[in-house]
Amino acid sequence: MSRRAAGGGQIYLDHHSTTPVDPRVLDEMMPHFAGSFGNASSADHRYGHAAAEAVESARERVAAAVGARPEEIIFTSGATESDNMALAGTMARYRDRGDHMVTCATEHEAVLGTARHLEGSGVKATYLPVDGEGELDLGELESAIRDTTVVASVMAANNEIGTMHDVGEIGRITGERGVVFHTDAAQAAGHIPLDVRGMGIGLMSMSAHKMYGPKGVGALYVRGAKPRVRPEPLFRGGGQERGMRSGTLNVPGIAGFGKAAEIAVRGMAAEGERLRSLAARMLRPLEDAGGVLNGHPTRRLPHNLSVYFEGIEGKAIINSVADRVAISAGSACTASTVEPSHVITALGHGEGRAHSSIRIGLGRFNTAEEVDSASEIIAGAVGRLRRIGGG
Ligand SMILES: Cc1ncc(COP(=O)(O)O)c(C=O)c1O
Repeated sequence: MSRRAAGGGQIYLDHHSTTPVDPRVLDEMMPHFAGSFGNASSADHRYGHAAAEAVESARERVAAAVGARPEEIIFTSGATESDNMALAGTMARYRDRGDHMVTCATEHEAVLGTARHLEGSGVKATYLPVDGEGELDLGELESAIRDTTVVASVMAANNEIGTMHDVGEIGRITGERGVVFHTDAAQAAGHIPLDVRGMGIGLMSMSAHKMYGPKGVGALYVRGAKPRVRPEPLFRGGGQERGMRSGTLNVPGIAGFGKAAEIAVRGMAAEGERLRSLAARMLRPLEDAGGVLNGHPTRRLPHNLSVYFEGIEGKAIINSVADRVAISAGSACTASTVEPSHVITALGHGEGRAHSSIRIGLGRFNTAEEVDSASEIIAGAVGRLRRIGGG
């Protein structure tokens, strides 16, 4: 199935920004908008019971996708909210343990912005650097942990360059030191295997719209035992989600999220292989046009390509292919600014590389033909821009 028509003939290759809703997910959601529209908290009638059942079934599916127990899944409005709750809520809850947190320079703004905000109220934050491929030195992580460290937040996979962190090892290190490990898995969940228990994860952020579910819904995994983690809520009110996230539940969104998680996990191995080979197929012509891959050559998300074209503005490439291919310069939330990507800058190759990179995110509905035409179109644009002097 092709998604070309949706963008007026554009081939959509921006799946790190968002993914289309899978038709099977849409089918799962539809009944909850009209006929079965109940409030999941209404215990007095069948409308409420049906909504609550849909939510609990989705909770089971999301939990199963990441090796959690259903009661450890708290539904939120997305990974931004989950990240905020994980950091602010955990620092607030365990203030008696200390005032320090550790995170990484290449995190999403939802984590970095929250860390900076917390610094304003007395929290001390360490931002660990990464190497030229976006990898963290785990020895540095270990040395950054102090007696007063409460939480360490390191993303499972990066949204711009695709580099995956060794989440299991980080879970082991933080676990030994009694530090809560939060991982932002917005880009990883549904794409690479995650097992919260095996990986020693205490808190994990997820987002439905990055895995062919709807926008505006996500989850925070909150470990229930050994040891239990209990962040303070961001929202207070009706006490939904066992008091951790008040507010009427987004039943259609949650039902869609559950279906999206189930589909993603069922097909993960085969789809990962397909996308890995499509990405390799796409990269070759881009390398022939002078492109250099950003991020780690192998420890990367199967569907990600971040490519640097020396001397050419990434924005110029994006604009010049825009009538046929949808790609981006980096994170969607910061893409409208002219600031260079903090992620590519953190790799230490200079700001120029950040200005001269494009991000490609392949997805479930992309075909080999689309990949071939897109790489030809992008390589052609690069050649033209080089001839006219760098765009
Ligand atoms: C790594 C990462 N974290 C958090 C977010 C924010 O997710 P949401 O759109 O669900 O708030 C994104 C989305 O771009 C992301 O890529």
